[in-house]
Amino acid sequence: MKAVILAGGTGTRLKPLTFWTNKHLLPVGHYPMICYGVAKLREAGIRDIVIVTTRLALGAFAEVLGSGRDWGVSIVYRVQEEAGGIAQALELARPVMAEGEKFVVLLGDNLFEQSLRPFVEDFERQTSGAMVLLKEVDDPRRYGVPKLEEGSGRIAFIEEKPENPLSPYCVTGMYFYPSDVFEIIDKVHPSDRGELEITDVNNVYAREGRLGYQVLDGWWTDAGTFDSLEEAGRRLKGTLP
Ligand code: DAU
Repeated sequence: MKAVILAGGTGTRLKPLTFWTNKHLLPVGHYPMICYGVAKLREAGIRDIVIVTTRLALGAFAEVLGSGRDWGVSIVYRVQEEAGGIAQALELARPVMAEGEKFVVLLGDNLFEQSLRPFVEDFERQTSGAMVLLKEVDDPRRYGVPKLEEGSGRIAFIEEKPENPLSPYCVTGMYFYPSDVFEIIDKVHPSDRGELEITDVNNVYAREGRLGYQVLDGWWTDAGTFDSLEEAGRRLKGTLP
């Protein structure tokens, strides 16, 4: 199965650092952040990776990761010219995917303790629908928050950064999609902040009763703020998966 790592965007919450550097190239422990995502996916059995990043950062990504050979994977790059949202970045991977091919998507600032292999293997066996990984968090208001459907193992809907979260869970940035995700992205409209939101895409699956989930027990963070970036560095130090 292929994976897409999204590493575009503007990194607003890490300014001023991100005036000069793409967020995913900032150091976490002993490596640039992007290396953890690549190594984590490889450890999960994935060998083909599409990285979506910005025009400015592309050269630096190629310097760090090259073709992927030294990381045991094959990497192709796609350029997101302007930050139009997570779903718009994902759409750029469309030409790389074969008709009917399912795949995983990782937000480049998401760092996981536990292996993603069991989830990838489960999804390989899953015959329809999409899946997301949830994590119980202290402050769900910073994230996409799911309302779980009683007993069905499915998500009823997701609210993006809600004032009053309906569960203690956050939707992490590891998504598992069937190939129809691109048709869904085609139908989604920009949000009030002018972005194509991944939560709107996931809510189409949820409405159709096609959004499954699993809950992570291990440590997880997005490293998109100074606090979480520091925490990630402390926890990961020099350890790659
Ligand atoms: O980390 C998990 C959260 O990620 C989820 O709970 C939310 O539902 C989801 O919307 C997202 O929220 P954030 O506000 O943290 O997203 P952010 O804008 O920081 O973007 C996350 C990653 O996606 C980041 O590593 C870069 C990539 N990205 C983002 C945008 C907006 C792109 O590649 N292009 C983009 O245009």
